[in-house]
Amino acid sequence: MNRILIGAQWGDEGKGKVIDLLSADSDVIVRYQGGNNAGHTVRLENRKFVLHLIPSGILQRGKVCIIGNGVVVDPNALIDEIETLEARGVRVYGRLFVSEQAHMIFPYHSLIDSLREESISKSEMIGTTKRGIGPCYADKMSRVGIRVGDLRYPDYFKERLGQVLREKNDVLKKIYNHAGLSFEGILKDYRRYARKILPLTIDTGLYLHEACRKGKDILFEGAQGTFLDVDHGTYPFVTSSNATVGGAITGSGISPTMIDRVVGVVKAYTTRVGEGPFPTEFPSRLMMQIQKKGEEFGATTGRPRRCGWFDAVLARKAVRLNGLDEMAVMKLDVLSGLKELKIAVAYRFRGQLLKNFPHSIYALSQCKPVYQTMPGWQEDITHVRRWKHLPEKAKKYLKRLEALLETEIKIVSVGSERNQTIHV
Ligand code: IMP
Repeated sequence: MNRILIGAQWGDEGKGKVIDLLSADSDVIVRYQGGNNAGHTVRLENRKFVLHLIPSGILQRGKVCIIGNGVVVDPNALIDEIETLEARGVRVYGRLFVSEQAHMIFPYHSLIDSLREESISKSEMIGTTKRGIGPCYADKMSRVGIRVGDLRYPDYFKERLGQVLREKNDVLKKIYNHAGLSFEGILKDYRRYARKILPLTIDTGLYLHEACRKGKDILFEGAQGTFLDVDHGTYPFVTSSNATVGGAITGSGISPTMIDRVVGVVKAYTTRVGEGPFPTEFPSRLMMQIQKKGEEFGATTGRPRRCGWFDAVLARKAVRLNGLDEMAVMKLDVLSGLKELKIAVAYRFRGQLLKNFPHSIYALSQCKPVYQTMPGWQEDITHVRRWKHLPEKAKKYLKRLEALLETEIKIVSVGSERNQTIHV
């Protein structure tokens, strides 16, 4: 079975753990968009792994992992991640393959990402991860990007880097008053990276096609989330790739007819990192309480995540856009101990009741959530492994989410360890 796994909120839904669970019965795991802005955390036997670029499936012995054409690859970050995993006893070589068509992140991308964020006003700031993601995707679309496969032809690579860097150094000098970057320095570094990365490159689209024909099971591992999608998210407070279901198709080279199921991941509440409107955001005391209990600090940047009540208006849009067949609800244990829980079931906008998520962030910033309140449960549920052992109030909360989203919940997570999971 070929499945796509999608974050149905603003990222950080807990996809790392679900991917780790689902990859147990997959043969190949594929990253198809984003780059090392992602941070997928997996806890195994008291060891914590945070993966930024390599599919989380690498932690399951013997699985093949692919970095598809839609991913933007920072080669330095990739090599670092490979070496860290190998040093911790996770075999990567021989199991990880990278698309030749994937665009590479260069030092000018991350530099421009940072300088741009620092030079604009607070209201314009996106709050990016400063990993160069936006500038790299912009170059891809402007057709001045450099791809992993270009490393294979040193003369062509050198010429192309020279052309691109001339323009980037102009931008750095004229707009950001920066001295610019050294051509020789970048060339030397990328030649070194080439020796380590070229042996991993293959035609990943062809590989996936053949894997399908051989009956292998493929898991497509989404990064970020539906509302960070550049087309369907809360633009401009989004990332620069398609984090919704279509990204898996264009970003891996697989045909949509090969996909069997789409699995959505939500947190039992909502979080977002970075700027942008957030209708169900908690007041500060509750925010601090949940941030602490849920360890809501970014896996990539360490920034505190903003937290809020579950937003069913938002999640319903994710169900529709991605055609979610089933859901995983994560971090239910974090809500234990609250007297009551709220779920946003609609928004009020200028006196009107909105059932659908608005496209404009201007409208969204003026929306007030209409809440349904439910009683909370007081029991610690981190040891629960079966649905029937969950407190009645927790079951009711989940059943209400199921009804609002019209989608079956198949996985409930009650802790970060692999076994702290209820299969419904
Ligand atoms: P960028 O992807 O670094 O350009 O950042 C754009 C926006 O996406 C910012 O609000 C980031 O905080 C957010 N973002 C990017 N990657 C992630 C992620 O993996 N989880 C949550 N938010 C993310």
